[in-house]
Order: sequence, then structure tokens, then C-alpha cells
Amino acid sequence: MTASCKPTADSASGTAPAPACTLVIFGAGGDLTKRLLMPALYNLAGAGLLNEGTGILGLDRLDLDDAGWAQSLTETMESFTHAATAEFHVPKIDETAWGFVRERLHYLKADFGSPDTFAELGRRLSGNVVFYLAVAARFFGPVVTKLGEAGLLKEVPGAFRRVVIEKPFGADLPSAQALNSEILAAADESQLYRIDHFLGKDTVQSIEAIRFANRQFEPVWNRDHIACVEITAAETVGVEGRGGFYEPTGALRDMVPNHLFQLLCMVAMEPPAALDAEAVRSEKARLIQAVRPVAPGDAVRGQYTAGSVLGEAVRGYREEPNVAADSCTETYVALELAIENGRWSGVPFYLRTGKHLSARRTEIAVTFKPSPLSLFKDRATCPSIMRLMIDPEHGTDTTLAVKVPGPEMRLAQVHAQFRYRDAFPQKPNVGYETLLYDCLRGDATLFQRADAIESAWAAVQPLLDAWQAGEPEFYVSGSEGPAAADALLARKNHAWLPLDPSGTKEGGSDE
Ligand code: BG6
Repeated sequence: MTASCKPTADSASGTAPAPACTLVIFGAGGDLTKRLLMPALYNLAGAGLLNEGTGILGLDRLDLDDAGWAQSLTETMESFTHAATAEFHVPKIDETAWGFVRERLHYLKADFGSPDTFAELGRRLSGNVVFYLAVAARFFGPVVTKLGEAGLLKEVPGAFRRVVIEKPFGADLPSAQALNSEILAAADESQLYRIDHFLGKDTVQSIEAIRFANRQFEPVWNRDHIACVEITAAETVGVEGRGGFYEPTGALRDMVPNHLFQLLCMVAMEPPAALDAEAVRSEKARLIQAVRPVAPGDAVRGQYTAGSVLGEAVRGYREEPNVAADSCTETYVALELAIENGRWSGVPFYLRTGKHLSARRTEIAVTFKPSPLSLFKDRATCPSIMRLMIDPEHGTDTTLAVKVPGPEMRLAQVHAQFRYRDAFPQKPNVGYETLLYDCLRGDATLFQRADAIESAWAAVQPLLDAWQAGEPEFYVSGSEGPAAADALLARKNHAWLPLDPSGTKEGGSDE
């Protein structure tokens, strides 16, 4: 498939630069700043989407000055040119684009707990400011409170003040509620931009386009025509040295109420009245509120043991650094969700995510009910499946039953595929470009609202409570996950699509 009828294949072209603003980054020396924020700013600069009046002020404990910080970031950017597997990889750093960012970098050595830091910010800042909290979650509440106390979140006409908060937003329902109360005491909801990086992916945003800009889907996108929906975020990586973070977190907290629920919203929400932040986020919040809290009997947790992933021997979770030898933290979760509304009542939504699985695959698979007319009942048919492929493949894959050439009426299933790379020029991006740009422009559509976050935690809270005790099922690294996850779907005669990397193995294909 190629793109035709395209106003522009480059979403950036014809788009106005963001307003002048100072971006204040708490956590200037951290991984997120180096790996994602700087490449995103570089890409925005390259696309002409940053205002000449942009300033970037980094804060951290490290003993650096403006030149030192700029130098260390320049070295990191250069390193991306010879790291083909990094999240951001370009053959060469464009001097004009990076120069635009580099000459705007300023650094302040700061203690986030000290009032002096915020007094100094008060002296340095005026006009529009975005405070980006690229820091550990324990700093979110205190930093926002101190920004408020120092008067730095007060907006006056012509000068906005916004706060970007990274994940994780709380660790359960009570802590998310407490964090919301804390930050909402210092800032208005309209000033808060809670990030879920999945929403920065074009393939995720495109689900709205596919569903609502193509007439053929909406009439069948409901319980009358859809048998089940699978949402998968399978990873081949393990905890990658993040044992300290992962031990108290686990796969459920790390992936489900945030990333997987955002995918759920995109595939299941009602059409919003408009594409503005309030309309879209209200539909998402309504959808999540309709999710029945998950009973422990509708969920499976797993933990990887030693095995082999993509041909490489890997250790078990319990042998990872900073992980307890008897850890019961889950590295895999599968669950069945019920959405209690008119569109979806009775349609199971199956969610699964895990580390050290056989393949990396983030996608939504919508399985349709069999055709009501049994014209072909004596011939093998397979259910129609539409896959919305988010990572690492970007596109869609829809199965079609067709007639095999020849004198007899024999059926085969084929795949109608769309791939972004075939239709649009590919540009290396890290997924934070749109999120940063939208925040600078004041468009909160792709950010999470307090009510939706709390409803998502409420939906999984029964599992968090139940899983404080007991053991996960064990699965061998490099497998498709624990056997109990298959049994979960077998209850309703459903089965997970295989994670096989070729991605075309589901039954009946003639390919
Ligand atoms: C992060 C999780 O939020 O998302 C990680 O903390 C996970 O554990 C990652 O690996 C997955 O994101 P992506 O974009 O690589 O699929």
C-alpha cells in the first residue's frame, strides 16, 4: 500500500513553531533527558518547530556549568551516530539543528529540596515556562508544591506556566489520589501534563484516525460484530539493570493501568465530539470508568526463569542485580477485562505484557465474529482479524478470506497489509517530539487527566491487593509466557495470537 490523497506525508510541514518558552528540566543529568528529551528537541529544531525565543534550563545535583552540560549532551548526541540499536539513531548529527538547541542550554546546579533553588528560579524566569519533571517519582509532589509556594506556577495573561510529569504516576489508587491532591493544590488541572509515552507514538495516535476517518469500521466496531480484542505489549528485553525500580513495581504497575489502558482507550472509546483535549480525554475517562475492576481469577501473573531469548542465553529474574532471590514480583501479566457499556458488553478484552518473551510485539488484534451467513460452512474459514501494529512493525494487517484460483470454490486466508515505511518517508524520532511540541502549544489531548488515571488504578486495584501474597507462575525466558495465560483465554474458546516474529502464522494463511 502506498500513500495517495495525502495533504502531506510529513506531519511537521506547514505546522507553526511553538511559542517562545523556557523549558526547565528537573533531572538534567538523567537518562531520560539524554536519551529522549534532547533528541526530541533536536528533531523539533530540525523541523523548524521551536521558537527562536526558546530557552532550556537544566537542573541537577551534578557539578556542571552551562558549557559542561552542553558538552556532555553533545557527546551523547554524537554517540547516537554509532549506536544503531539506540532509541535514536542517525548517521550524522545535523549541526544547524543541534546548534539551535546547544546554544540555548543553560545549567543550574540545584538541590530539589532546597527553597534556594526555587528562589533562584524565580530570579531567572519570566514569561512562558514549562517545568519538565524528568526525575524519580518521589520528587513529583514536593517539586510541584515548591514551585507553587515560590509563585512560579502563577499564570498571568500572556505567560503560561505548565508542568510535565513523567511516569509512574502513583503506585496504586490511594497513592495516585494523594499525588493528584498534592499537585492540584499547587496547580490547576489545565497546567498539568501527565505523560504516557505510548501516546507519543504515531501508530497509537493513528488508531483514532483509522477508526473515525474510515467509514467502514464504525458500523462493525461493537459487540454485534467483534468476538474479542487482544492487546499485547511483549518485550524481549528483561529488566535491563533496573531491578531496583522493578522489584516494587512489577509488570502490572509498569505497563497496564498506563500504557495498555491507553491502547484500550484508543481502540474502545466512543467517538469524541471533537478532537480537542477535553472531548477526547472525557471519552477516555468514560471508557476507563466502564471497565469492571479485574477479579484475581481473571488475571495471571508470571515471572521469567533462565532461558534463551533471540538465541542468547539469559538469566532468570531472581538472578538479576538488585532482585531478591525469592522475589515474587511479576514480569508478565495477562488479564481479561470487561467493559460495561452498550458497545462492548460481553466482549472480552484480553491484555498481556511481559519481559523476556519470544518476540517484541506491541499491537492490538481485533477478532471479528464469523459471518452470519454460513454459505461456506463446509469449507475451512478462519475468523477475520484486524491487527493494529504499534511496535516494532508500524501499520495494520487485516485478514481476508478469498477464493483460491482454480475450478473449485476453496477458501484461503490472506493478509492485506499497510506499513508506514512503505507509505511515508521515515524519520528517526523518539516519540517525545509531538508530546513536547503539544505541551509547548498548550494542547493536552495526548496527556492524561487526573480522573482517568485514578479510574485506571481503581480497575487494577483488586489485583494489586491480591498479589501482595502468593507466587507468580514461572515461564522460561524466550517462551510465549506462562501456560496459565493460555488457559485464561481457553475459558471462552479464544487463543492468543502467537508472538512469532514473522507475524503471519495465525491459522489458515496461504502465505
Ligand atoms: C516503560 C516501562 O514505561 O515502557 C518499561 O517502564 C517498558 O519497562 C517500556 O520497557 C516500553 O515502552 P516501548 O515504547 O519501548 O514499548
